[in-house]
Amino acid sequence: MNREYLETSLFPLPPQDDGLQHSWKVRNAVEGVQIFGGIGSGKTSGSGRTLALKYLKAGFGGLVLTVKPDEVDLWREYCQLTGRSDDLVVIEPGGQERFNFLEYESAISTSAVTQNVHQLLKTVINAGKDKAGGSNNDPFWEDALDLVLLHLIELCLLAHERVTISDLNDIAQHLPQKQVGQVTSQLDKLNKAKPLNDYDRALDAIMAKAEKEEQYQRAVKMVKEFFESKYSVLADRTRSIIDFTFLSFMSRLMREPVFSLFCTGNSTITPDDCRKGKIILLNLPVKQYDKVGRDCQIMFKYIWQRAMERTLANNEHSRVVFLWADEAQNFIHEHDADFQATARSSQVATVYLTQNLPNYYANMGGAKYRYKTQSFLGTLATKFFHANADTETNEYASKLIGKTDRVKKSQGFTDSMGDDSENTTISVERDELVRPEQFTRLENGGAANNKMVEAYIHFQGNVLGGQVSHTLLTFNQDFLP
Ligand SMILES: Nc1ncnc2c1ncn2[C@@H]1O[C@H](COP(=O)(O)OP(=O)(O)OP(=O)(O)O)[C@@H](O)[C@H]1O
Ligand SMILES: [Mg+2]
Repeated sequence: MNREYLETSLFPLPPQDDGLQHSWKVRNAVEGVQIFGGIGSGKTSGSGRTLALKYLKAGFGGLVLTVKPDEVDLWREYCQLTGRSDDLVVIEPGGQERFNFLEYESAISTSAVTQNVHQLLKTVINAGKDKAGGSNNDPFWEDALDLVLLHLIELCLLAHERVTISDLNDIAQHLPQKQVGQVTSQLDKLNKAKPLNDYDRALDAIMAKAEKEEQYQRAVKMVKEFFESKYSVLADRTRSIIDFTFLSFMSRLMREPVFSLFCTGNSTITPDDCRKGKIILLNLPVKQYDKVGRDCQIMFKYIWQRAMERTLANNEHSRVVFLWADEAQNFIHEHDADFQATARSSQVATVYLTQNLPNYYANMGGAKYRYKTQSFLGTLATKFFHANADTETNEYASKLIGKTDRVKKSQGFTDSMGDDSENTTISVERDELVRPEQFTRLENGGAANNKMVEAYIHFQGNVLGGQVSHTLLTFNQDFLP
């Protein structure tokens, strides 16, 4: 893909005072887009529809995450309208497509499987946690869970030479329990008579290897020491929180339809196919599949983001790709800001739609949720602001767009010694270019507005030339490419 392609116009912008025709380009798309707007303000059918159709028409590959059950039909329509139906790949229950995520991750780098899988599972578990507070936000639980995950993957990999969800789950069900003082010897005897469980078998397998190959000896020692001397003696409450968080996550992956779609068999599609123009849609809408729909999509998104960073659009057959998330607050994870910071060089055109800032605050979690949200939003260079009743978002938008000097005239009368006289005072005041309350009055489509949707667009950088960084746009809800 050549540099000139980045200068391709996606849509024209309204004329400005300089008389030049400016446009919003592929370059702007890969710098990221955030669309804000209240419920029914026209995000999906206004700016969302126009951007989606423009991206498809421009030949982008992409990943579409879903929250509402009707999104798959909307994208089928978009692909049909742009002649891209053959490129659309829907991963859904009962469908033909599957993606075995651990197999894919394990194949990327044979020397870093543990780290890859560990990072992935940790990110998904963290993103799915209740962000309301409590022990889950305590760094201690995070660190403890982290270590369990790391040693479990290591154990699984050393014993079976691969990592699968079934193996991880089986071993995790049988991790050593605390044994109490005097009773131990008796229990030990009883335990000896018991059949080996998955944990014992995995450990036996590595010990057998360690007898032949020295490299396994250190690993056996580390894993055994961790589970039998540290993990097994954790306080009951600590251990039950860790077990519960991890096992409930695993059990969601072990159930259908997720298991068949993401955890077993050979992949029919991988993220890399998006660079060849495929549009992968994950039809596990959160509204229908709830937590498991969300876990799977965050997992796919994170794997996809890492894959796109590895496979830059660096040859003529490689496409710009988009990442599409309507109701994006559902899919935020801890590495999003980092990924977004390099998305431009990876040529990934992210589009996130959400109602307001508090949606992000609630999903960022932790004490620094405001700071995290602001820094994340800073990495999405173009923002659309539709009609909104949320004061915080409107104030944010108004502040972002900035202020201008306005000349104000005020007239007054003075009565000196019975003589009326009029005087005019002229002052210059700094005033918002778009005041917060103006966002409440934007048109939101439907028959009442002749299917027109309004939004302010704000750009980072010099898109319109001169000092102007925003303009008002109108979208038609029946827009055709
Ligand atoms: N093609 C269309 N023609 C006429 N009206 C439409 C069309 N598409 C959507 N609408 C209406 O326009 C309004 C805006 O809809 P839209 O779904 O785009 O809003 P939204 O901002 O995405 O809302 P939400 O936050 O609920 O997803 C709604 O009242 C919707 O019923
Ligand atoms: Mg919508």
